[in-house]
Amino acid sequence: MAWIVLEGESPAGLLMLRQGADEAEILTLGVRPQYRRKNLASRLLETGCATLETRGVTTLFLEVSVRNDAAVALYLKLGFALCGRRKAYYPDGSDASVLSYDLTSVTR
Ligand SMILES: CC(C)(COP(=O)(O)OP(=O)(O)OC[C@H]1O[C@@H](n2cnc3c(N)ncnc32)[C@H](O)[C@@H]1OP(=O)(O)O)[C@@H](O)C(=O)NCCC(=O)NCCS
Repeated sequence: MAWIVLEGESPAGLLMLRQGADEAEILTLGVRPQYRRKNLASRLLETGCATLETRGVTTLFLEVSVRNDAAVALYLKLGFALCGRRKAYYPDGSDASVLSYDLTSVTR
């Protein structure tokens, strides 16, 4: 599944998810620099999670570099929890944090 958020006619952000049975993972999330800190990533994730719920998904996973302060802050703010770490996961040698989000605990 994928969503693109537009600002006017310009693509500003992208979210790609993959579902396997009752689990899903974030493949890609990105917002173009000039559109950051406008809640676009938050809105993309909210939209994605709402769709996953309707498809019977209970847990959403992702990997993020421990050096990616912006993304880690975003996910923690939205209620994702740390559930693992992959050593030297990225080409620059940085570790990945594995985060999960419990979709069954969401009240909309
Ligand atoms: C991470 C990223 C997707 C965030 O997109 P965004 O649209 O700017 O995020 P939002 O505006 O929804 O941010 C929501 C909250 O996340 C946190 N956050 C986002 N960017 C942050 C930053 N640079 N520093 C600190 N906290 C940040 C804040 O708590 C923010 O709330 P606030 O603006 O009220 O303080 C964006 O910076 C990006 O595209 N980065 C490069 C690609 C990337 O790292 N993708 C994630 C890979 S797992």
